[in-house]
This record gives sequence, structure tokens and C-alpha cells, in this order.
Amino acid sequence: MTGPSLRTVAGVINSVETLEGAGFLVRRPFPKSSFSEFDPFLLLDELGPVELAPGQAKGAPDHPHRGFETVSYVLDGRLEHKDSVGNAGRLNPGDVQWMTAGAGVVHSEMPEAEFTRTGGRLHGIQLWVNLPRQDKMIAPRYQEIPAAHIPTAQTEDGLVTVRVIAGEALGAQAVIETRTPMIYLHYTLQPGASIFQAVPQSYNAFAYVLEGAGLFGATQERGEDGQMIIFAQDGDTAAIANPADAKIPLDLLLIGGVPLNEPVVRYGPFVMNTESEIMQAIADYQNGRMGRIHV
Ligand code: FE2
Repeated sequence: MTGPSLRTVAGVINSVETLEGAGFLVRRPFPKSSFSEFDPFLLLDELGPVELAPGQAKGAPDHPHRGFETVSYVLDGRLEHKDSVGNAGRLNPGDVQWMTAGAGVVHSEMPEAEFTRTGGRLHGIQLWVNLPRQDKMIAPRYQEIPAAHIPTAQTEDGLVTVRVIAGEALGAQAVIETRTPMIYLHYTLQPGASIFQAVPQSYNAFAYVLEGAGLFGATQERGEDGQMIIFAQDGDTAAIANPADAKIPLDLLLIGGVPLNEPVVRYGPFVMNTESEIMQAIADYQNGRMGRIHV
């Protein structure tokens, strides 16, 4: 028996600011020209945090997806969604929507009407998770988990809390099912706290810092708010610490999954394995075969 082996840090990626949907600002560590994906993950967007004036909130009106999953996690504010399969719902702070687009949905993702009217703080995360070839054309599926049903855990000293969106941490097991093995953990570390999270060596894994700054990996590389810290695939444990002299908690996402190692051909909201599958997706969308939203 050997003990756990700590992963080193392969790189630290800065987010770029970009406009999405009807014109809302997101911070995006990837994709960008120099870094198009992190198998099996295709995109990470941080919306806000931003204080919106009344009437100022913008969303993403009707648009399609095929071939992957979109995972929406609301931290502040309220969103609402509608889709071509007949689903509609509202996401409140702490809620997660794990949407498996599969063969295709057309949906809208908008700030909730009353929230738009009053304004307020908006903060959310969207992650795109690729589907393996055999799952790209499955029927769409929604897993919509309200905040109260997301498993949480805390260390005995109370210095570390985790919300377990996918996978397992501090003895808590996620309720969301993933198509391939994966972790999606929201950790909060008080000053002086550290974690040693098991991440199987077969996973690609990264941290994204929501607030504060921390020390990552075997050699304690620094990473801060808005940065993505990529762990090398050279160990089975991710070490993260918030220095004792920190003024604020370290709030971060720790995300990892088994790489699919399949060809990725992407065109906007479609992610398939071949060019001809992309052409088919465009044709199916234009011919209404992904459905339409009925209001
Ligand atoms: Fe979408």
C-alpha cells in the first residue's frame, strides 16, 4: 500500500470577458482560441457576480443544443427556462439544473420576470459536459435539483463545507446522475483550512475560483478569483488550501471527469464527432426536428 499521491498543477488559466445571449457579460476560462476544451468539458462560464438595476437583466432567448449536457448552477438571483419538450421552471439560489440535451432541445434561459423587474445580484455558473458518442442522440433529460436537495457536508471543525453536485466528497454522495464518471464540488474553505479531495487519476480535473485566493496542488501554486487551475493527471488527490492570513473564505468549484478521447467537432450549440453530424444537426434544427418552444 502506498499513500495518496498529490497532483501537481499543469497550468493556471485566466478568464476572458465575453458577451453571451442577448448581451450579458460572462467570465470564461474556456473555450478560447488557445484552449478549446478540457475533455470531457467543453465550456465554463461565470455569469456575474453583478448588481443589476431594475429592467437591466438579459438572458439567452430560444436556442438549440445537441450532443452534450449543460449544467446551470445559480448562486444569486433567479433564472427561468422553457424548452421544446414542454419543460419550464425556475432556478433559485443554490439550485442546479443538469440538462442532457442529447439528440436536441430548443430552450430559453432568462432572468426570472420578477427578478428582472426588481433587479438585484446575479451570479451563476454554466458548465458544458460532452457526451460520449453512444449517448449523443439519446432522448433529452432534465435533472433539476433544488438547493435543499443538494447534499452538503462539513468538516468537524466547521472550516470546510462542500456542496456535492456530482460525485462524492466528505462522505456525501451526489443525487445527480452523470453519463460518465465525474465530480462537481462546490467547496468553501475558511482561512487556514485545507482539503485533500480524492480525484481518480483517470480524471481530468480543474478548480475554478469564485472568490478569494488559494494554494493548489503538491507545490502550492497560487490561484485566485476568476482563474482556472488545471491539475496534472499525475496523482489521485487534489490538495487545496486557504492561507491562514487570508481575509476571506476561498470559494471554488472542483470539477473533474474521465476524458472521452473522441473527436470533437463543435459548431456553436452543437457538439458532435464528425462534420457530417454537425451538418445534420443544423438541418434538423432548421427543419424544426428539435422542436419549438410553445408559449
Ligand atoms: Fe442553452
